[in-house]
Amino acid sequence: MRSAATDAAPVVRQARQCADAFWLRLVTWQKTHGRSSLPWQNTRDPYRVWLSEIMLQQTQVSTVLGYYERFLTRCPTVADLAAAPEDEVMALWSGLGYYSRARNLHRCAQDVVARFGGSFPYSAELLQTLPGIGRSTASAIAAFCFGERVSIMDGNVKRVLSRLLAFEGDLASTANEKLLWKAADELLPPEGDTEAISRYTQGLMDLGATVCLPRQPQCLICPVEALCEGRRQGDPARLPIKTRKLKRSAQSLWLLLARSADGEAVWLQKRPASGIWSGLHALPVFDSAEALEAVMPEALRPALRHLPAFLHVLTHKDLHLHPVQVDAARSDMAGLEGRWVAAEDWPALGLPAPVRRLLEERPTRIIG
Ligand code: ADE
Repeated sequence: MRSAATDAAPVVRQARQCADAFWLRLVTWQKTHGRSSLPWQNTRDPYRVWLSEIMLQQTQVSTVLGYYERFLTRCPTVADLAAAPEDEVMALWSGLGYYSRARNLHRCAQDVVARFGGSFPYSAELLQTLPGIGRSTASAIAAFCFGERVSIMDGNVKRVLSRLLAFEGDLASTANEKLLWKAADELLPPEGDTEAISRYTQGLMDLGATVCLPRQPQCLICPVEALCEGRRQGDPARLPIKTRKLKRSAQSLWLLLARSADGEAVWLQKRPASGIWSGLHALPVFDSAEALEAVMPEALRPALRHLPAFLHVLTHKDLHLHPVQVDAARSDMAGLEGRWVAAEDWPALGLPAPVRRLLEERPTRIIG
């Protein structure tokens, strides 16, 4: 039975009222106007769907395509991924960013093998017990693969549903997000119609990505325009409401680019499990030029050369990277943590994108 509190929320009641028209229109629209040939569609293999959903969490489709294919070629099954060395997984992920996703991916594959005998569990509830799988990702996998009647709630869906229901709640608050999620549950196609549930889920993603755009919603071609309360009120683009702004920061880092005198290798360290570029191999990182100099053998300090600084933009942070180059005999670095790695071995290691570009002598966005 539904609780009185749930019944009392106007947005939930409103969702219930337009549910049948909404899901039917969306499902019909998806069949002809939605995306249908992405490589992770037309499969109900949870491994493939899970991999795509994790990759797509913070990365756009066009970038994911190549990584997805490479991952599947190297690891065609979840058991292959579980058995792969961590460095290889990080290397396959290198360039996609948000490296905690890659570590969780690896752990998740190992958990699926250890706890579920190599088959992903069949419900959103159990999927959420795996590393790196939150409620929305669990719902996407369960809806696509098992036709479970559960709703997703990513940035696109928040936008679509806030506008449809003219939801004024500030989505910076978890209570409001939960309320919108309750409304989303009301809008789902009926239990048991697994084909509709899967298509509906894809339809919501497609509508958000191609029609209900953040700044310029394309209401004239929208299949649910007639149901949209935000449109009826005149200015759907003002929704969703989210007050908390991303606070951007800047950080300067100094990178030691030690090349072996024979020119064949650079000195790399494996980054610790937390902090920037965790788990990847990178040039030694320092907070200041002085800190970098302090670890160098005396004899090498006069040979340090400051290269042009360059900018690497992360979602929350601008990194100002200051490479400091030195040519060193292999024995000069013996006291430092790390090891010499020859150029032909760089691709097999997970190198952060800006470090890889620097080593390939094509850093972008030189500053100062
Ligand atoms: N973003 C997240 N999941 C997606 C999917 N299945 N198709 C396209 N974009 C997505």
